[in-house]
This record gives sequence, C-alpha cells and structure tokens, in this order.
Amino acid sequence: MATQKSIWVLNGPNLNLLGEREPGIYGSKSLADIEQRCRDTATKAQFDLEFRQSNHEGELVAWIQEARTVAAGLAINAGAYTHTSVAVHDALRLLDIPIVEVHLSNIFAREEFRHKSYISAAATGVVCGFGPMSYVLAIDALTAQMDL
Ligand code: DQA
Repeated sequence: MATQKSIWVLNGPNLNLLGEREPGIYGSKSLADIEQRCRDTATKAQFDLEFRQSNHEGELVAWIQEARTVAAGLAINAGAYTHTSVAVHDALRLLDIPIVEVHLSNIFAREEFRHKSYISAAATGVVCGFGPMSYVLAIDALTAQMDL
C-alpha cells in the first residue's frame, strides 16, 4: 500500500528482461534483484517502496499521475521513452516532489540518439552508468533531498 512515506521507482520498456537483455551493457542482475536492492535501501531510510515496470508509455504516464498524490519521491528509468517521450516529460512536470532520472548504462557514452533525454529537464537530478547501483544512489539522493 502506497503512503506519503513512499518512494516510487518506475521502470519503462524492456527493463523486465534485465539479466537476459544485452548483459554486456545492462549486466546479469534481473529487475527483481534490483527491486530487492531498492527495497533494502528504502527500508533502511524508513520509506516504503512502490516498484513498477511497464512496456507501455500511457501506463507510465498514469503511474506518474498516481504518484503525484502519494509519493514522497520518484526515481524513473524510462528506458527508451527517455529519448522520445514528451508525454512522460509533461507528466513528471506535474509533480512537486524530488525526481531522479536513473539509467543502468552511461547513456552519454553510447549512441548519439541516447544523449538526448526528455526526462532530465523535468528531474531534480540524474544518475547513470553505475548498473544496479544507479538505483541505490537514486534512492539515497531522494532521501537526502527530503532531509533538506
Ligand atoms: C537505459 C538506457 C536507454 O537508452 C535504453 O533505451 C534502456 C535502458 C538504461 O538503464 O541504461 O532501455 O535506460
């Protein structure tokens, strides 16, 4: 059950196949492994965790809108929608809570089309390139923001 003391972590397309998907880039850990690390990190900071994944842009938009009323902070790895989605950008701009953009890989060290993010301008900050640790750092950053 989501509460005001919830951190939300949203994941976009193809991240359900982590562990099988291009392991040379994304590593061997599954999304369930990453969820567990996020849960441990949030629990230590005394936050609940809401962790979701969708392959559908509209579902991500609906979840961002849902987070608006119940989340204390949001981390989002929008996957490929990072580079295409004005709808996700606009939804994030509705939120008045800390937002961290997350990527497993260093998108700036990859193909040119990954260098553009529609998420960054709507986020408080960005963590990328540290594999599953990117998620842990994002949650640490969110809880640090809330302490300010
Ligand atoms: C990603 C990077 C994106 O460019 C890509 O489309 C993904 C994963 C990452 O976590 O490194 O799906 O967001």
